[in-house]
Amino acid sequence: MASRLFIVSLLLFSLAGTCYGEVLFSSLTRTLLVSASPKQGSVLKAGDDNITVTWGLNQSFPVGTDGEYKNVKLKLCYAPFSQKDRAWRKTVDNLKKDKTCQFAIVARPWDMSKTDQSFVWTIERDTPTATYFVRAYAYNSAGQEVAFGQTTDGKKTTNLFEIQAITGRHTSLDIASVCFSAFSVVSLFGFFYMEKRKGKSSSKK
Ligand SMILES: *[C@@H]1O[C@H](CO)[C@@H](O)[C@H](O)[C@H]1NC(C)=O
Ligand SMILES: *[C@@H]1O[C@H](CO)[C@@H](O)[C@H](O)[C@H]1NC(C)=O
Repeated sequence: MASRLFIVSLLLFSLAGTCYGEVLFSSLTRTLLVSASPKQGSVLKAGDDNITVTWGLNQSFPVGTDGEYKNVKLKLCYAPFSQKDRAWRKTVDNLKKDKTCQFAIVARPWDMSKTDQSFVWTIERDTPTATYFVRAYAYNSAGQEVAFGQTTDGKKTTNLFEIQAITGRHTSLDIASVCFSAFSVVSLFGFFYMEKRKGKSSSKK
């Protein structure tokens, strides 16, 4: 009985999930103003440089527009230039399948009393080299996207900036780790060789 109930509720849950889950980006209204500190065309270093992001409701929308906003998430997103020929970064209208914005910057509860909020983000060390912009999504209490805002225009051509990955910059560290593994392989062989010799000499006795 309990297990049947469980299965039924699981079924209902997944049904609700499919009806609820599909949010199309094209259905969202751009009500959020988002800005980020990097200037158009600047080059930042992953793991080092900071980005200040600022967000709030565009005040030309009527009071109460953000009535159902519960949370806001800021994300780092690939510009079209860095998506070309890379299916794993593809833009899909269905937000469940969209790969444009893969990097979380910050998530905060929506605060209606503030016209703008900001956050300083140190670019994560594993961010790949690419051209980016910043986008914010507002979520309702069901966790669905209900509005957005971004630092670039609708066609994603303005205010883009570049991030340089750590690889290729901290080569001394990489070289050190290669040397270390070479050393361990050599010492392993050395160890076996010594053991073999020891074995031989003791059998001679
Ligand atoms: C970024 O912020 C961190 C923490 O506040 C600070 O230690 C670091 O020096 C900043 N980096 C740059 C390049 O300003
Ligand atoms: C705020 O929203 C209005 C109405 O959609 C729009 O015309 C205006 O460009 C927006 N302001 C900014 C700074 O994006």
